[in-house]
Amino acid sequence: MEFENRSIVSVNQFDLAGLDTLFDLARRMKPVAARKARSKILDGYILGNLFFEPSTRTRMSFASAFMRLGGQVNSTTGTVNSSLAKGETLADTITMIQSYCDVIVMRHHQLGAARDAAAYSSVPVINAGDGSGEHPTQALQDLFTIIEERQGRGVNGVTIALVGDLKFGRCVPSLVILLCLHAGVRFLFVAPPELQIPDPILRSVRDQGFEAIRTSDLDSALKEADVVYWTRIQDERIDDRNVLAAVRGKYVLTRAKVESCCRKDVVILHPLPRIDELHTDVDSLPNAAYFRQAANSILIRMALLLLVLGKEADFDKSLSPAPDQGGAAELSAATPPAP
Ligand code: NCD
Repeated sequence: MEFENRSIVSVNQFDLAGLDTLFDLARRMKPVAARKARSKILDGYILGNLFFEPSTRTRMSFASAFMRLGGQVNSTTGTVNSSLAKGETLADTITMIQSYCDVIVMRHHQLGAARDAAAYSSVPVINAGDGSGEHPTQALQDLFTIIEERQGRGVNGVTIALVGDLKFGRCVPSLVILLCLHAGVRFLFVAPPELQIPDPILRSVRDQGFEAIRTSDLDSALKEADVVYWTRIQDERIDDRNVLAAVRGKYVLTRAKVESCCRKDVVILHPLPRIDELHTDVDSLPNAAYFRQAANSILIRMALLLLVLGKEADFDKSLSPAPDQGGAAELSAATPPAP
């Protein structure tokens, strides 16, 4: 898979080799993310960070990832503060903004908006969420977190319970596509009927030969799961108040539930934000990986930005230790000696 100067609008662009390239580079970002080393490799580069829909983690982690690598960030948030509020088309917005920056990260409420933006842009566009469509970089950090948390046991053969709003969320569809690149994954889709995984996704998973079941039996699914992926109800995309009333509070993960149902080594993920579906008493369990998952976003986004800007080959030699953080020793251990 090619990265340089390519837009990343869908997880469908990835193959296993592409994932390996990205994840290997993401691991090499650890000293910089941990402030043990510094890099100015993106000095002189500008990220256009366009968030037309609400965001905390994705927006800030893309910005921090870029700034940690020495780049600068030019951003707009919401539609109110941009010319979209005046009725400007996405085509015009992107046609202009491409001349202000070297790479664009965009979140937009319309399904397919990232693909459209990429068509208007001469600089790479990275999809940071297009309505109920996709959230590729979230799925990449989710898969990376599963691999890291399972400590060498990999993804093949994993049973994953995906719980909550599987219909209106965009994280689950993207993650499912990436998981389907791995052999023998079993999918347990746990949701009330109103929020179950849509037919085309279920069909596609089964057509590729994977075992996938829809169920509302949470306890049984939790007992089988190696990985649990919890999600919030996407209120902002559900117009029907009756549906909201019917599904609210149906599935809430608590520490007691984890301890009574889950395997000892279960990995618990959530893309965040959580509202009331994931109790804070789960947080102190070693299995609660969701804040580590959020932190991994920096590694994944740094790596992806370097790849699309074609800078990965120069990364190691851009590193300098951050001695005030005790990084000199760590850096020399992490980087191979120059030939
Ligand atoms: C997700 C999103 O925006 O789709 N948030 C995120 O980027 N971590 C999940 C959500 O909002 O529920």
